[in-house]
Amino acid sequence: MCGIVGMLAKRQVAGILVDGLRRLEYRGYDSAGIATLVDSKIDTRRAVGKLQALADKLAEEPLSGTVGIGHTRWATHGRPSVDNAHPHFSEYVAVVHNGIVENYRELRKELEEKGHIFKSETDTESIAHLITDYLRQGLSPQKATAAALKRLEGAFALAIIFAGHDDLLIGARRGSPLAVGYGDGEMYLGSDALALAPLTNRISYLEEGDWVELSPAGVVIHDETDAIVSRKVHETNLSGAAIGKGEYRHFMLKEIFEQPAVIGDTMAALTSTDNHLSMPPVPFDWKAVPRLTIVACGTASYAGLVAKYWFEQLAGLGVDVDIASEFRYRGSPMAQGGAMVVISQSGETADTLAALTYAKEHGQKVLAVVNVAHSTIARQSDCVVQTLCGPEISVASTKAFTTQLTVLFCLALQAGLARGVIDEARVSTLLQALREVPAKITDVLREDHKLQELAQHMADAKDVLYLGRGTLFPLALEGALKLKEISYIHAEGYPAGELKHGPIALIDESMPVVVLAPHDNLFEKTSSNIQEVVARGGKVILFTDKKGLANMGTKPYWVTTLPDVDPAVAPILYAVPVQLLAYYTALSKGTDVDQPRNLAKSVTVE
Ligand code: G6P
Repeated sequence: MCGIVGMLAKRQVAGILVDGLRRLEYRGYDSAGIATLVDSKIDTRRAVGKLQALADKLAEEPLSGTVGIGHTRWATHGRPSVDNAHPHFSEYVAVVHNGIVENYRELRKELEEKGHIFKSETDTESIAHLITDYLRQGLSPQKATAAALKRLEGAFALAIIFAGHDDLLIGARRGSPLAVGYGDGEMYLGSDALALAPLTNRISYLEEGDWVELSPAGVVIHDETDAIVSRKVHETNLSGAAIGKGEYRHFMLKEIFEQPAVIGDTMAALTSTDNHLSMPPVPFDWKAVPRLTIVACGTASYAGLVAKYWFEQLAGLGVDVDIASEFRYRGSPMAQGGAMVVISQSGETADTLAALTYAKEHGQKVLAVVNVAHSTIARQSDCVVQTLCGPEISVASTKAFTTQLTVLFCLALQAGLARGVIDEARVSTLLQALREVPAKITDVLREDHKLQELAQHMADAKDVLYLGRGTLFPLALEGALKLKEISYIHAEGYPAGELKHGPIALIDESMPVVVLAPHDNLFEKTSSNIQEVVARGGKVILFTDKKGLANMGTKPYWVTTLPDVDPAVAPILYAVPVQLLAYYTALSKGTDVDQPRNLAKSVTVE
C-alpha cells in the first residue's frame, strides 16, 4: 500500500528511483511521483495512473539531481490526481509517505492558521508543512524532522529531502515498513528489500519509531527518543532478475506455473526425502496447547481455514481462524501460554501485524508462516516457517497460497505426531501424497487450454457461486475471491451444505455454479447438492477426479477432470485450476490481471 524509495548518490538518481518504484508498483498504482534537488532546490515530476505515465513524463521533462525520493500511490486521503500524488512539498522540504496520519485535520488547521497554503487533499501534505514550520523556526533538518515526528499520530514510513542539503536524505518508520540499503558510495531507502534488490543486498530494517539520516558520512539511526542506535545489517538473497515476467504475459500466470517448483522447494526445506519431517522447533509444546488461533487476511486467511481442518483431523487440535482486522479489535480473551499462527505472504499486512502484537501482549507464543524473510511479522514472531515461493508480484496471490498450504500441512503433521494422534507411518504416507502434488499440478498446467476454453463460458456471467465441502470449502472461498479480484465478476464461496439455506434462491440458467468435489468421503453429499442445482436449471461447472465423474448421476454443464490425489492434500491441487479459471476469465474480459483496479498487494494501512 504505497511504495516509497529514496536515494543519495554521486550519480543522477531519477531513472534509478523509477526503477525502484517499478518493483514496488504492486503496492499501489493510481499515481506516482519523484522529487530531487536541482541546484539545491526542490523539483518534482508527478503523474496520475500507472508508473509508466511518470516514466513518460520524465522522458519529456527529465529531472536531474543526485538525491531524491519517489512514491507509487494507493489513494487513502484524496482521489488520484496530480495534486494528491506524492511527493508533497514546500519550498524547503519534500516528503513521500506510506501510511495514514490520523491527526492530519488538526495539524492542517493549525498550519493553515499560521499561513501555510495546502495544495492537496492528502494527510501527507501536513507532514511537509509541519517540518517546514520547524525549519522556519531555525531548526536543522534533523531536529525539525524529529520534532515533527513527535506530533504525528497514525502509521507511516517516510522519506524526506531538504532544499539546500544535497547530502542529506531522512527516513522514518512507525507502523509501516522501511528498509535502509547500503551501496558502494551511495545509500538508499525502500519500502522493502525487493525495491533495492538490483542496487544492494545489504539491508537494515528500521524498528518501530526509528528515524534515519543518510549522508555521505554514513548512516545514523535514531530510536523514538532520538538516541543513536544500531540495527543489524542483513544480507538478502534477492536479485533484480528474480522479478521479471520471463516468457509469460502476466506475473500471475508465471507465478501459477511456478507452483510445482516452489511447493517442492518449500517441502524440501521441511522434510527429508524419505518422508520424515525436519521442521524447526515450534515455540510452544504441541501436546500442551489447548487450542490454536490462526490469524491472517485475504487469501492467507483461506489457507488458515484449510489448516483448521488439518489440525483438527490430523492432530486433534481445535482451531479458531480469525480475520486479522476483526481479531485485533475484539478484545478476545487469551489464556497465558497459548499459541497463535499468523500467515502472511508479505509479512507487512497492518492488521495481521496488529493481531500478532495483541497476541504477544496477551501471553501468546506466535509462529509466523511468511514469505518475505526479514519482514516485520517475521522479525516480531517467536518462530518463522518460511514459504519458499520467491517474490510474488501479481496482486492476486497464487504460489504464496499453495506454499502456505504446504507449510501448514507439515505443521499439522508435526502437531499430530507430537500429540500422538498420528504415527510415523501415517506421516510418511501423507508426506508421500504431498510429494506427488507438484507432478500432478504439472499435469493440470499442461491442460490449461481447457480452462481457457471454460473461461469463455464464465466471462459473461454477472454472478458466480463456488461450492465445496471440508477442505474444499475454503477453496471455494478462494476461488470466488480470485475471480472477483481480477475479473470484477461478483462471486461467492459457500459450503455446499449451506446451499439450501439461501444461495439456492439465486440459481437460474445464467449463473455458473463452480463445484469443487474430489471423490472423497463427502462426495455423495456434494453430488446431491449438484443435483439440486441442475434440477433448478443451474449451470454446474464441476472440478472432480475420474471416480467423481463416474459416480456423478446427472451430467453437469462442464466437467474438468483432475488427477487422483489423496484427499488430505486435495486443496493444494484444486487451487491451481481455480486460479487458472480466474486468470483466463479476466484475460477474456480484458482486465488488468496483475494490477486489478483499487487493489494493492501489500496492505500496510488498516
Ligand atoms: C491483499 C492481497 C492478497 C493477500 C492479502 C494478505 O489483499 O491482495 O493477495 O492475500 O493482502 O496479504 P499477506 O501479505 O498478509 O499475505
